[in-house]
Amino acid sequence: MRLLLSLAVLTLSLASVRADTPEEVFSKRIVPIFKSPNPSSCTQCHLSGVDLKDYIRPSHRETFLSLRDQGLVDLDHPEKSKILHLIDMGKDAKKATDIQQKNRTAEYEAFAAWVKASCADATLRTAPKLAATNLAKPAKPNEVIRHARTDRVMESFENTVWALRFRCASCHTTEAVEKRAKEKPLESLGANMAWIRPTAEETLAYLTKSRLVDAKNPERSLLLLKPLNDEIKHGGGVKFVVGDQGYKAYRSFVDDYAAVVNGMYAKSDELPKKLNVVQFGTQSWLKIQNTPPAWADKYMAVKLYAWDTTTKKWQANPVATTDRKVWGGGKLWQHNLTLLTTPDSADAKKWKTATPTLPGGKYLVKVYLDATDRLAKDWKAELSDDDFVGEAVVESQWPTGYGKMTVLDATAVKK
Ligand code: HEC
Ligand code: HEC
Repeated sequence: MRLLLSLAVLTLSLASVRADTPEEVFSKRIVPIFKSPNPSSCTQCHLSGVDLKDYIRPSHRETFLSLRDQGLVDLDHPEKSKILHLIDMGKDAKKATDIQQKNRTAEYEAFAAWVKASCADATLRTAPKLAATNLAKPAKPNEVIRHARTDRVMESFENTVWALRFRCASCHTTEAVEKRAKEKPLESLGANMAWIRPTAEETLAYLTKSRLVDAKNPERSLLLLKPLNDEIKHGGGVKFVVGDQGYKAYRSFVDDYAAVVNGMYAKSDELPKKLNVVQFGTQSWLKIQNTPPAWADKYMAVKLYAWDTTTKKWQANPVATTDRKVWGGGKLWQHNLTLLTTPDSADAKKWKTATPTLPGGKYLVKVYLDATDRLAKDWKAELSDDDFVGEAVVESQWPTGYGKMTVLDATAVKK
């Protein structure tokens, strides 16, 4: 009786000691990941374009050979396999949600166990290569995968909506909303008034969560329709006209964001062109007064050029710009400046954290007018030399604030 019992114990423990075959590990632990509707841990950084599922084939053998042939497993040091590294990428990221962390741990442990078991299997190690058409990998090219990364989306947000937030900040920051709430009951305002949060990241998260940016219907996003104050009324009045710098920046971001999250880009030539300019909003205002009747209620843009002390010429590229419709009734045009620089410049690095400022001095102001309302018909249209109406030199310390505008008289603007 005792013998029988110990025999039973022995067989039981033997059974539990026997390691699962790679195939068993695969069906128990990898297949559920493959079939799961849950997003993989990759989505923490890749909004589309790549997913862990892209690397899995229905059969254990093909999945392993596919990873092996793409250099994603290290046969001799399975724990150093690149596929494990990819899964582990977001481990230390503060942004990871609990669910993402939980998924990642599950994915990592499953793949680590399965890769290890498979690498120990001599027939798998030496099996002939898979046909290239049988490799399991993302369908999108690397450029598309890169473009759809959260850090790239953030970069584009910073250079568009965030850079031009000053056009909206006087009413839409938390402080502005609180101040207003003391004067007027808040219920007369929208629930998402305070959409400009302290940082660019928080702002983007807020805009998408509140659906002010509508990824399903990007051009119908309230973030675009409100400031146009056209079909949808805006408590702040007209803050954009179709085709102006603010609209262009916000619209191009919203369109691109929607295309990214919906996985719409298939090829790299469909991606938006990367501009070699980054923009930073300021609170320095330029006013042009006594505008002639021909400019009344037309869209007008200015570009500012700095003086180059070595070549003794105006610099070739503008250092600042801004635009708006001329207020015909008041013979007036005014707006705050947006600074322009190249992405790798010292200024660009500095202005990411410090307040962007235009140094005091003299500048050439070139003025462009959309006399035929081209932008309203095509928001992507750009004003060119044909739209140039004149220039003037302005000297200013560029003080900040609505009450401290730098003023130019339109009569000084000459061709
Ligand atoms: C914490 C953020 C993060 C997570 C999570 C993450 N990645 Fe990445 N991934 C990146 C970054 C950043 C790069 C580009 C830098 C690099 O090449 O190392 C990248 C690059 C890639 C590339 C190469 C494309 C290229 O740019 O050449 C692939 C493929 C990839 N990741 C797949 C995955 C898969 C699959 C997962 C999930 C298992 C994953 N990544 C999880 C951030 C992440
Ligand atoms: C002078 C103040 C002011 C400025 C500047 C302003 N807004 Fe508004 N905005 C308001 C007020 C007041 C409301 C609430 C009434 C309404 O919904 O129209 C509002 C509402 C909104 C809403 C809807 C919020 C919600 O809770 O649904 C959006 C989106 C919006 N504005 C976008 C913008 C954008 C984009 C800009 C800059 C280009 C801007 N606003 C500039 C005053 C302003």
